[in-house]
Amino acid sequence: MSQFRDAVLSRRSMLSLLMANMGVAVMPPSLRATTRQAAVKEFDLRAAPGHSRLTAAASDQTAVWAYNNSVPGQELRVRQGDRVRVSVTNDLDEPTTVHWHGVRVPNAMDGVPYLTQAPIQPGGKFMYEFDAVDAGTYWYHPHQRSFEQVGRGLYGPLIIEEHDPVRVDRDLTWMLDDWRLGPDGSIRGDFGNRHDMSHNGRVGNTVTINGRAPGDLVVRSGERIRLRLVNAANARIFALDFEGHAPMVIALDGQPVSPHSPANGQVVIGPAMRVDLILDMTDRPGSRNAVIDRFYKGLEYQLTELTYAAAPLRSSPPDWPIELPSNGLPEPSVETAIRHEVVFNGGMMGRMVMSDMGGSMGEGRTGGMMNMMRGSGVWFVNGVAAEGHVLEPFLTLEQDRSHIISMTNATAWHHPIHLHGHSFRVIARSGEPTRHREWQDTVMMAPRERVDIALVADNPGDWMFHCHILEHQAAGMMGVIRVS
Ligand code: C2O
Ligand code: CU
Repeated sequence: MSQFRDAVLSRRSMLSLLMANMGVAVMPPSLRATTRQAAVKEFDLRAAPGHSRLTAAASDQTAVWAYNNSVPGQELRVRQGDRVRVSVTNDLDEPTTVHWHGVRVPNAMDGVPYLTQAPIQPGGKFMYEFDAVDAGTYWYHPHQRSFEQVGRGLYGPLIIEEHDPVRVDRDLTWMLDDWRLGPDGSIRGDFGNRHDMSHNGRVGNTVTINGRAPGDLVVRSGERIRLRLVNAANARIFALDFEGHAPMVIALDGQPVSPHSPANGQVVIGPAMRVDLILDMTDRPGSRNAVIDRFYKGLEYQLTELTYAAAPLRSSPPDWPIELPSNGLPEPSVETAIRHEVVFNGGMMGRMVMSDMGGSMGEGRTGGMMNMMRGSGVWFVNGVAAEGHVLEPFLTLEQDRSHIISMTNATAWHHPIHLHGHSFRVIARSGEPTRHREWQDTVMMAPRERVDIALVADNPGDWMFHCHILEHQAAGMMGVIRVS
């Protein structure tokens, strides 16, 4: 708990921060690194309407909302242990906040309007300040009317470099997004419509990488690339097939994982999730290889192409190690963990799924929930559809204890479920232990799937817990989990 409590005390000098920490007996290794070599990295972000060239036609300048008039917003790149200070100015016509997705920040820096801070009013400013405790690939986005603010282009990457990164020839970030554009190239204004909310969210018709229609990626034979994928889309799920290549997954949601090839060779990444890949360029000079998104059956399309230059870089891939150093998160104890249950339901066809699953979930329980599903909400967390700004926790986790949350997706849809302020281990899927016990901050749940996650609740405060399909979140699929 020490790392977060100290981090709340903003604007302390390095020296007093160091002295404050010396009194703390148990400190995670990541914090020790912080106090020894912390540098302060300062950034300015201004959220405002702007223009961006999203499509291939140079003439198309689409009206967007953006940070510093750029989609994505500027890459914030710091080193693990740095102190990060971001001054945010709101030049939109509506309130906003910034959330540092996946970063274990002190509660007051989490950027959730009404819950952790007052929204930043038009013309207002807010200073965010936190320690970059975990290395990895993260991102930032508003948490106020996210379905429209993120959907119009407010998001950017936050890269926290390891002190000892894996060796590669190139370190690339792809922020994936999709847009719903009208025939004139402008963003359609139908945000938050009832159909998107009750089905699979606002899936767009134009996919971009780093805010642009993807061009080819020029590579060289023998080259090793670290590719950081970030899914900034409101609702689209990607399943990338790097034809003829064998990507290795080395981190999920910023946290290292034992290197492995993805199931079926496809890199699946739901909204808000991140995947770090090691991609070895194993084909011959002059060859071209498609990268295909295969997630939606029958709607496969070519995202981009790897185009090999004529000159090779080396004759075979390097044999450098690819395992990332652990961030040293507190390890949950499955034996002593306190157990909790969370059931998601609602959406189109929700009643059918609920009655099918009734037997396995306990009739009384599902019956009770089905009665509660009569409100105006579309999606429910333990029978409640959140409305407006939820403030009251539906679950309290005793601080510094291990917890297992067993989640059931009693709906006909996929949901990427995100918890703020913590990373958790995904320990089981539908009763089967997971192979990698991966750390995530956003876990994809397939229709009717059960997923067990485990964590040490070491970061005190009230934290959002929600589906990151932003239309589902807006239509009730969120709640607050208190750690105290
Ligand atoms: Cu990426 Cu609650 O958010
Ligand atoms: Cu959802």
